[in-house]
Amino acid sequence: MSDTGSSRFSRRVCLVTGAATGIGRAVAWRMAEEGADVAVLDINVDELETTRAGIQARGGTAFAVIADVSVPDDVRAAISQVESVLGPIDVLVSNAGVPIVGKVHDITLSDWDRTFAINTRSTFVVVQAVLHGMRERRRGTISITASSAALVAEAGSAPYAPSKAALVNFTKQVAVENAALGIRCNCVCPGWVDTPFNDPAFTSDSERVETVSRQVPMGREGLPDEIASAILFACSDDASYMTGHTLVIDGGLTLGPT
Ligand SMILES: NC(=O)c1ccc[n+]([C@@H]2O[C@H](COP(=O)([O-])OP(=O)(O)OC[C@H]3O[C@@H](n4cnc5c(N)ncnc54)[C@H](O)[C@@H]3O)[C@@H](O)[C@H]2O)c1
Repeated sequence: MSDTGSSRFSRRVCLVTGAATGIGRAVAWRMAEEGADVAVLDINVDELETTRAGIQARGGTAFAVIADVSVPDDVRAAISQVESVLGPIDVLVSNAGVPIVGKVHDITLSDWDRTFAINTRSTFVVVQAVLHGMRERRRGTISITASSAALVAEAGSAPYAPSKAALVNFTKQVAVENAALGIRCNCVCPGWVDTPFNDPAFTSDSERVETVSRQVPMGREGLPDEIASAILFACSDDASYMTGHTLVIDGGLTLGPT
């Protein structure tokens, strides 16, 4: 149970993509603790089942749907399924992502297209699919997971960083077009977070600890729960006057050299 002891998402239907592990799982579990009915979408069947079971264990109604976010028709079908089982989606957390990196002169067109299909185009597809209903009902909140990589240049971060930078502006587009209807959209930019996502970036635990302590002023990776806290805030009525905003949660990573 979160230590807020609140139920900010009572009677709300939430959909979290990329919820099988890491940040998405933490968001799903925290939303369940705060009263939501939670739909979770991912491509990883086994881990998604663990997330689904964890929602139920926290007293929430859970619905799990397997889909590849880079396949638009599958995403749209999954959202219809969620709405027919749980009802209209009040809260969307578009969070699925992959860490495909490399230098501009090395990466392939297929690296670029795959990264943008999963990290960027999928967000457009999932947001558009829920927006129609949110606009009719004149309510809804959306959180998009970008990255601190969206805000700075770092050699070797293409195509990942550009795919996330696009999400920062996309958030603002959604926000400005829908603010008058009472629909809010914000994004979060995590720095290094302790999830399976970063495993391929390091050859050993000691390299991981050394890199993070050198780059991050706070000297450590963030926890999935620390990112979930910001996402829940952005999606809750606590943030009722905040839209189009970018929340940077990175232990100071983007502040400059330590
Ligand atoms: N971990 C970090 O350091 C970090 C930093 C900045 C931003 N992020 C972003 O946070 C988000 C969540 O990442 P995480 O750290 O929790 O990593 P994670 O690997 O634990 O979670 C990513 C999830 O996305 C799912 N996914 C990947 N491709 C998919 C597809 N085609 N269809 C459906 N689901 C798919 C994975 O199965 C996984 O469950 C990502 O968008 C990532 O870019 C992570």
